[in-house]
Amino acid sequence: MNRFENKIALITGSSQGIGAACALRLASEGADIILNGRTFDERGEKLIKQINDMSRRVTFLAADVSTSANVVKLVNDAIQVYGTLDILVNNAGVEKNHSFWDVTEEEYDFVMDTNLKGVFFGIQAFVKFCMAQKRSGVVVNMSSVHEEIIFPHFAAYCASKGGLKMLTRNLATELAPLNIRINNVAPGAISTPINQKLLQNPEQLNNLLKNIPLKKLGKPEDVAAVVSFLASDDAAYVTGSTYFVDGGLTYHYEEQ
Ligand code: BGC
Repeated sequence: MNRFENKIALITGSSQGIGAACALRLASEGADIILNGRTFDERGEKLIKQINDMSRRVTFLAADVSTSANVVKLVNDAIQVYGTLDILVNNAGVEKNHSFWDVTEEEYDFVMDTNLKGVFFGIQAFVKFCMAQKRSGVVVNMSSVHEEIIFPHFAAYCASKGGLKMLTRNLATELAPLNIRINNVAPGAISTPINQKLLQNPEQLNNLLKNIPLKKLGKPEDVAAVVSFLASDDAAYVTGSTYFVDGGLTYHYEEQ
């Protein structure tokens, strides 16, 4: 199914994990892809090859999206590459496991600047382009189940994802007259590099699995499938929502 024929998509943080799966999925459905990561390395090289093999155009733009200057430049550079931009997937995200009382300003800024500030100003740059060109657009933000549920020792992460939830709710209304849709995807426990420590700790992993009705971790591809739906015209009437991809984690309840 070529839902993205003649569409250009920028996916931030797409060297690995969920971002890479999103890039491959959108390309498999016809999109040309702008990849992004802090640095270009063999992971980017491999993805470029995979996307070229699908006969899609692909470019890697290195940028750290944690400052407004960087993310605005990234979006504007992405627009220059193939002359336009249709889909912005704000996937780049970071987390720090630290008890609240030990969190430093530097750690707080690292998490909030990447997960929330960069997204805010990235969307702003995309919206300005859409307005100037009188074009519609689609934004999909990678949120987390932790836009809704607590995550002890990850207070800044939760604050960033809670902020992302309200940003999306707010912008859905503000951007609807411009024909720009915006939604969040909220992954639960997905096997990706962000939670390698957890995946290598059998006791912690088993405790987590007890809270997941489907009793398994998700795959990056499970998340990419929902991103692709939201980015497509199949979701033409969907804006301001969060789609949970969590095996039931968020709203699980069992009688003991
Ligand atoms: C976090 C993971 C965590 C998962 C479930 C995600 O947002 O990035 O580290 O395992 O939520 O708690």
